[in-house]
Amino acid sequence: MTTFFERVGGSATFEDLVSQFYARVAVDPILKPMYPDSDLKAAAKRLQMFLEQYWGGPSTYSEVRGHPRLRMRHAGFHIDSAARDAWISCMKQALDGLDLAPDAKEELWQYLEMAANSLVNQPD
Ligand code: HEM
Repeated sequence: MTTFFERVGGSATFEDLVSQFYARVAVDPILKPMYPDSDLKAAAKRLQMFLEQYWGGPSTYSEVRGHPRLRMRHAGFHIDSAARDAWISCMKQALDGLDLAPDAKEELWQYLEMAANSLVNQPD
């Protein structure tokens, strides 16, 4: 049985998605200041490893970082609806730039949007 990770083109696809996403984060006035390191390369690598693992690819994320615990790992960042919307907007543009089958794109999108909503930790 092939995994979703394989069906969409493996690592190359996730690398592309994440690098397009971080190119937008780097110039986003809400998101950029939230990142502790001015160099976003390490953060990009962590997101790529996480997404690859989530979609059935290598489990490198957990080997390197342990259990994902995304709510906990985001607790130190002020994520209100504006930050969530900025994240979603950068990710939507990144995803739109990929050449994927429409159903795969939709599946990925549903997950990313749901996950972003679940990480809001500040009331409006
Ligand atoms: C809702 C808006 C979001 C904001 C504002 C946000 C912001 C951040 C920030 C500032 C970091 C620290 C960067 C670093 O790794 O050094 C981070 C880490 C991370 N984020 Fe998000 N994030 C959001 C949503 C998401 C979503 C939806 C996912 C997954 C689908 C995600 C996955 C990750 C992962 C895997 C890390 C690295 C965790 C680690 O191993 O330390 N984030 N995020």
